[in-house]
Amino acid sequence: MKLTIIGTGYVGLVTGTCFAEVGHHVICVDNDPAKITLLNSGGIPIYEPGLDELVRKNTADGRLRFTTNTGEGVEQSDVVFIAVPTPPLADGSVDLSFIEKVAREIAAAMTSYKIVVDKSTVPVQTGDKVAETIKRYCKAKVEFDVVSNPEFLREGFAVEDLMHPDRVVIGVRSQRPVPRMKEIYAPFKAPVIVTDISSAELIKHASNSFLALKISYINAISVLCEATGANVQEVASGMGMDDRIGRRFLNASLGFGGSCFPKDLSAFIKIAEQVGYDFGLLKEVQRINNEQMNRFLKKILDTMWVLKDKKIGVLGLAFKQNTDDVRMSPAIELCQRLQKEGAVLRVHDPKAMDKAKALLKDTTFVDDLNEVADGCDALVIATEWEEFKKLDLERARKALTHPILFDGRNLFDPKQMEALGFIYKSIGR
Ligand code: UDX
Repeated sequence: MKLTIIGTGYVGLVTGTCFAEVGHHVICVDNDPAKITLLNSGGIPIYEPGLDELVRKNTADGRLRFTTNTGEGVEQSDVVFIAVPTPPLADGSVDLSFIEKVAREIAAAMTSYKIVVDKSTVPVQTGDKVAETIKRYCKAKVEFDVVSNPEFLREGFAVEDLMHPDRVVIGVRSQRPVPRMKEIYAPFKAPVIVTDISSAELIKHASNSFLALKISYINAISVLCEATGANVQEVASGMGMDDRIGRRFLNASLGFGGSCFPKDLSAFIKIAEQVGYDFGLLKEVQRINNEQMNRFLKKILDTMWVLKDKKIGVLGLAFKQNTDDVRMSPAIELCQRLQKEGAVLRVHDPKAMDKAKALLKDTTFVDDLNEVADGCDALVIATEWEEFKKLDLERARKALTHPILFDGRNLFDPKQMEALGFIYKSIGR
């Protein structure tokens, strides 16, 4: 099929590329000429495992191309996906101005029937607004359908999640666009659920909020574990063996971050408020998450006492493994709070150092993860990168002025760390 994706951020670029990979003809549109020039010259604006190879292959095969021209994309495709940012506003609600602008641009360019699909994460009932806008601004007065088709991809695993989705959600106002939407997704061989538009929009916010709730739940349990000498990982494993609960997203940590969970939680709380429901449960999820960071910092302060002029090594800057994304990263927040206490930082991240440089001043960025500890008073792990598990612990112990390691991601075994001579503090163990 001929498809256009408007917006080449994480969601748009990965979606467009994977659609091309399964045989569709895809035009990716972005209003940032620098991004389009980069993509047309074979570059990729984000780090996402496996993506560059797929972009190159599908561009070379002629199934994927990039342009700044929305009109061209709308004209040449049957289905137009909206995948533009929906950033948070100061009060926690969602800025829908990019969605509205793109809806107007699509409307202006439409000269025949189109299916307009919203992929961006939006508040429930946005689909109705998009439909109203297109109707108002479409001079040609052609027919169209609006569809809600939320994405569920995780950064760092986006290609994998897109190629092998757990489910595809298609929210519609009429049955007309359903066969074509199913045809687009047929190669992915995933279960498809067809709902009304509002349900599809709610599925997205309800899913992300639930996952955030799961993390805050285990983080709350980690506090009880610390108070009683229990081990949160054993508790999580025991809970997770119940199929109804599941082990995933039960990793206690210094808190969740990223461009989705914090934003989606605030938005969902606001959406609930607007329809007259106080979603106190989700406010508590936020509170536990903030508290988790405070507790981790307190652990460092209680052990180190005064941080002024102390050298701290920090492993991890991205908000999670496998990404260079530092938006709302707990690791960055931790670094900034350590700096506020007067600490001097040596930091490393496998992929996020360039992006972190804009956020962390007076910081030493170290290329080799094993050299971060050199001359430091303590080492901190802030992101769950797999390769941190291969840290040369013997070297780190000798390189530190005191062998103190704070692990915000529970990457090591406490007993082994103690046997190696570390003062080792992790989460809920
Ligand atoms: C999330 C959703 O998982 C995805 O379905 C949605 O489409 C977008 O939002 P993402 O933000 O990319 O994806 O990352 P995710 O893997 O969900 O992790 C979010 C945060 O939670 C990270 O900071 C991560 O470190 C943290 N986390 C995750 C935990 O602290 N513990 C866990 O058990 C899992």
